[in-house]
Amino acid sequence: MSNLDGKRLLLGVSGSVAAYKSAILVRLLRQAGAEVQVVLTEGGSRFIGEATLQALSGRPVRSDLWDAAVEAAMGHIELARWADLVLIAPASANLLSALAQGRADDLLTTLCLATRAPVVVAPAMNRAMWEHPATRRNRALLEADGVTFWGPSTGPQACGEEGVGRMEAPEQILERLERHFAPGPLAGLRLLVTAGPTREAVDPVRFIGNRSSGRMGYAVARAARELGAKVTLVSGPVSLPTPEGVERVMVESARQMEGEVLARIEQCDIFVATAAVADYRPREIAPQKIKKGEERMELALVRNPDILAEVASLPDPPFTVGFAAESEALEDHARQKLRNKRLDMIAANLVGPGRGFEEEENSLKILWNGGGVDLPRVRKELLARRLLEIVAERYHEKQKHKAQGA
Ligand code: C5P
Repeated sequence: MSNLDGKRLLLGVSGSVAAYKSAILVRLLRQAGAEVQVVLTEGGSRFIGEATLQALSGRPVRSDLWDAAVEAAMGHIELARWADLVLIAPASANLLSALAQGRADDLLTTLCLATRAPVVVAPAMNRAMWEHPATRRNRALLEADGVTFWGPSTGPQACGEEGVGRMEAPEQILERLERHFAPGPLAGLRLLVTAGPTREAVDPVRFIGNRSSGRMGYAVARAARELGAKVTLVSGPVSLPTPEGVERVMVESARQMEGEVLARIEQCDIFVATAAVADYRPREIAPQKIKKGEERMELALVRNPDILAEVASLPDPPFTVGFAAESEALEDHARQKLRNKRLDMIAANLVGPGRGFEEEENSLKILWNGGGVDLPRVRKELLARRLLEIVAERYHEKQKHKAQGA
């Protein structure tokens, strides 16, 4: 059976000659068992007829934000919620620009703002348009917002030029969708991840921070999504794009992070705390920028909440995974943390010069009550994937025990 069976796809078709490929794509998606709702933009309708797309998708094509009769049957917000994935193929330069600006002046752009489903675009345009700085800028903005780009591919173009800008072949897009919807060991589970550093304000312009890049946490969020989980990432200030299909909530301080985590914790099955949360914050935040004065200055600090420990001690906690960055006696300190914070699992690594925070690679010692495994030094992306496969195993093991005990 296809992974697309029963999946609800909202297919946006915008103004490009590649729109003829959308018809083939609709046919392939329907054959794979997906429900397909086509949304045609004004530009798209210049290249392909509604009747074709309607016949192939088996549903009336939507194109108008203002059609009261159609809106009454399924309003645009409902339609945005209905979708498991929004795919725009072809996505024209104009459409990318509108999405990057967050415009909502037609049905398709409005749906993209209103949906919580992953948004994927398959661009199609002339080579020079694709390479234009404005299009590059729009792409960077969209990627930062979590939009995924499939293609464009390279080859002869309808305009007679040769180069990058062709919409990917429908068969290739189908393959990508199959992979996207492949069920993983975390399918159906909801995962909450904290990542990055926190900033603890001293005054309106200064803060106490740390060197966490957020890479490990973002890699964990991405890997969890790829393994099938529904993922929310509560992130301190970092300069990383939102991983595909992940909901991201940005925070600054430890207390904001605590608030956002606690507000969501009841709806989550697994909690992974990778954030480098400041242990202390200034006792008071000066209302104005502190002026230079005395030779010495002392800053009074108070303890921050330990978010991980707080979550693990809830009456009905999720499966809880902590991280431990240690500079010595790795296993002893990590086991202690596992016990003291009552965690289900801890991922420990040595930090120091050339290790940990700002590195692309890392190794991890993963420990749980009664067991453990060492993951050798690899890129953080791969490491996160391995870690999450172990999390999935241990989670299902724990559920089995719970069920047997009940
Ligand atoms: O005790 P320590 O700070 O070494 O524990 C590290 C683990 O605890 C990490 O998983 C980190 O994300 C989490 N933590 C937290 N809130 C804090 C401090 C640490 O969630 N205030």
